[in-house]
Amino acid sequence: MPISILPAVEADIPAISRLQVAAFASHPRMPMQWPRGYTADFYAYKEMGDREDFQDSANHYWKAIDSETGEMVACADWSFHLESDVEAGEKLTVESGPPESWPEGGNWELKRFYRLNTRRMIGDYIGKQPHIMLNVLTVLPEHQGRGAGRQLIQWGVKEADKLHVCMCLESTPAGLALYKSMGFVVREVVAANMHDFGWKEPYDEEAAHRIFMVREAR
Ligand SMILES: CC(C)(COP(=O)(O)OP(=O)(O)OC[C@H]1O[C@@H](n2cnc3c(N)ncnc32)[C@H](O)[C@@H]1OP(=O)(O)O)[C@@H](O)C(=O)NCCC(=O)NCCS
Repeated sequence: MPISILPAVEADIPAISRLQVAAFASHPRMPMQWPRGYTADFYAYKEMGDREDFQDSANHYWKAIDSETGEMVACADWSFHLESDVEAGEKLTVESGPPESWPEGGNWELKRFYRLNTRRMIGDYIGKQPHIMLNVLTVLPEHQGRGAGRQLIQWGVKEADKLHVCMCLESTPAGLALYKSMGFVVREVVAANMHDFGWKEPYDEEAAHRIFMVREAR
């Protein structure tokens, strides 16, 4: 299989930001979250956030490369929370207003709704347990189904089993089968009512779903 995985370096960040945007571009929630589309200020905001996360020593970015072409086809961002005396959800701060870099027209209230729920669910289902969280896994659409996603997850699962810690993530409906096959179990499905967040058209319920999953320590 000509896909290999390796740790990302900071110089990969612009490409990683673009890869994540490309992988989620057709997700039906994107026009609800970013009604103006992918503007220059959106890319600047995205890249700044990814760079800050990369520089956080708790985070581990990995990339999947097509060995034949050298192209980056997928990436994953993990954060390791190994202290057991801290309430995990408290570390995720959720400001009441958007940051200065927030792209014009972005749906801040929707972003805040999901972030508040993420914080609550980490508190409810992880509490003070040391854990590893998968923040993002993305595979370019034309390279999906080639095993890149599974290889990236396998790295995190191996680390968690070495450390005997639990894991958590939030999945889209598309990622469910992969995560279940790696031992993750659904704990809660969060669904925003998009009509409360300014969306006027009908929409597929699944577009609003974020599925919180946990894999117990082994
Ligand atoms: C979901 C996703 C991460 C899976 O990564 P991937 O590299 O395509 O998956 P893999 O090739 O490693 O396959 C792993 C499993 O994913 C599932 N899968 C992969 N491609 C799929 C497809 N086109 N349709 C449905 N399931 C698929 C299968 O269960 C597969 O297991 P199998 O090989 O035993 O059949 C990737 O397709 C993706 O990024 N999708 C869009 C963005 C997204 O929703 N990401 C969020 C995940 S939280």
